[in-house]
Amino acid sequence: MRYIGCKDNLLPFIEDAVLSRGIRTGTFADLMAGTVSVGRRFKSLGFTVYSNDILAFSYVFSRSYIQSTHTPADLTDMLAELNALPPQPGFIHRHYSEEGTRGAERPRRFFSNENAARIDAIRNRIDEWRSERAISDDAFYGLLACLLEAVPGVSNTSGTYGAFLKHWDPRALKPLVLESPGPVTGPAGFAYRQDAADLAGKIVCDVLYLDPPYNTRQYASNYHILETIARWDNPAVYGVSGLRPWRAERSAWCRADSALMELGRIVSTAQCRLLLLSYNCEGIMPRERIVETLQLRGTVEVLEQPYRRYRSDRDRESRRYASNARVRERLYVLTIEDTI
Ligand SMILES: C[S@@+](CC[C@H](N)C(=O)[O-])C[C@H]1O[C@@H](n2cnc3c(N)ncnc32)[C@H](O)[C@@H]1O
Repeated sequence: MRYIGCKDNLLPFIEDAVLSRGIRTGTFADLMAGTVSVGRRFKSLGFTVYSNDILAFSYVFSRSYIQSTHTPADLTDMLAELNALPPQPGFIHRHYSEEGTRGAERPRRFFSNENAARIDAIRNRIDEWRSERAISDDAFYGLLACLLEAVPGVSNTSGTYGAFLKHWDPRALKPLVLESPGPVTGPAGFAYRQDAADLAGKIVCDVLYLDPPYNTRQYASNYHILETIARWDNPAVYGVSGLRPWRAERSAWCRADSALMELGRIVSTAQCRLLLLSYNCEGIMPRERIVETLQLRGTVEVLEQPYRRYRSDRDRESRRYASNARVRERLYVLTIEDTI
C-alpha cells in the first residue's frame, strides 16, 4: 500500500539489525505499525508480534495480519460476492465523488462516481454480515483489510488524502477490485490501538520497534478517508478535502520538542532487550538529542542506509530534491543494560 514511511523496502535492514544481535525468536512489539509491514515480516520469522497504531485503519491491518492465524476458508467466495455488488451511493459517494459534491465550489474528485458508490456498497455489506452474525470477527477484519488495501489503488490522489488531483489519474478510473491478501504465516499476535508511549510500559518483549512520523505531517489528516472507511462512523466532514475531525489522533511525534518527550517516556518505561528506532537524517528530532535520550538505558549504535525519499505521484522525475532524493535512513539500536 502507498503509505508515507512504509518500511517495505527496508525490511532486510531492520531484520538484520535484530537477527545479527542474536535475537532469532521471541516477542516483537511494533508500536507505530502503519501498514503493518514490519510486524508481518517478524511474524513470518516466528516472532509473536504486538502490533499497534493510533489510527483505526492500521488496527484493521494489525487485527487481520497479526492477530489472526489463518485466512477464513470462504474468503474467496465472500470477496467475489463483494466485487459483484452493484454501486449503492452512500457516505463516500456523497462526500468524495464529483456527482455527490456537485454544486460545491470545488467538487471533490477523490473517486470516480462508480467506485465511490461501490466502496459504500461493499462497506455496508461487510457491516450487515457482521451484525447478522453471518461472519466471524476474523472474517470481518479480513474483508475490511482487503477493502482498505484496494482503495488507495483507485484513489485520484498523489498518495495521501490531503488533496485530490484536478485531472483524472487513469488509475482512479479503473474498477475497484478486492483481492485476497495471501496466506498468513506465523504465531498469533496481538493488535492494539493506543498511544505508543502509553502502551510501551505495559508490554514485556524482546524487541521494541518504533517508527514514528519523521516530520510535521500528521497521518490522521493525510489518511482521513481510510480512517473513515475503517470506522464507518458518519463524521461531519469539512473543508476542500472533506476532512473528518482528526485532532484526537493528532500525533505528538510531529513536533520536535514533544517528540523527544514521547521518546523519553518510552525509553524510561520500556521492558525489552533491544529498542530500535527508525528515523531519517531529515527528521525533526536531531540525532544528538535522540542518542542522548536513548543512552539513558544502555548502549546505542546508529546504523545507516541510503534510501530513496518518499515521492508522491505528483513529483516529476525532473523534480530536484537536495542530495538527489537520497536520504539516509537510520536505525538507532539501543541494547538495554538494566531492567525495570
Ligand atoms: C512512519 S509511519 C509507520 C510506517 C510503518 N512502519 C509501515 O511500514 O507502514 C508512522 C505511524 O505512526 C503512527 N503514530 C503516530 N503517532 C502515534 C502515536 N502517538 N502512537 C501510536 N502510533 C502513532 C501513525 O499513525 C503512522 O501510522
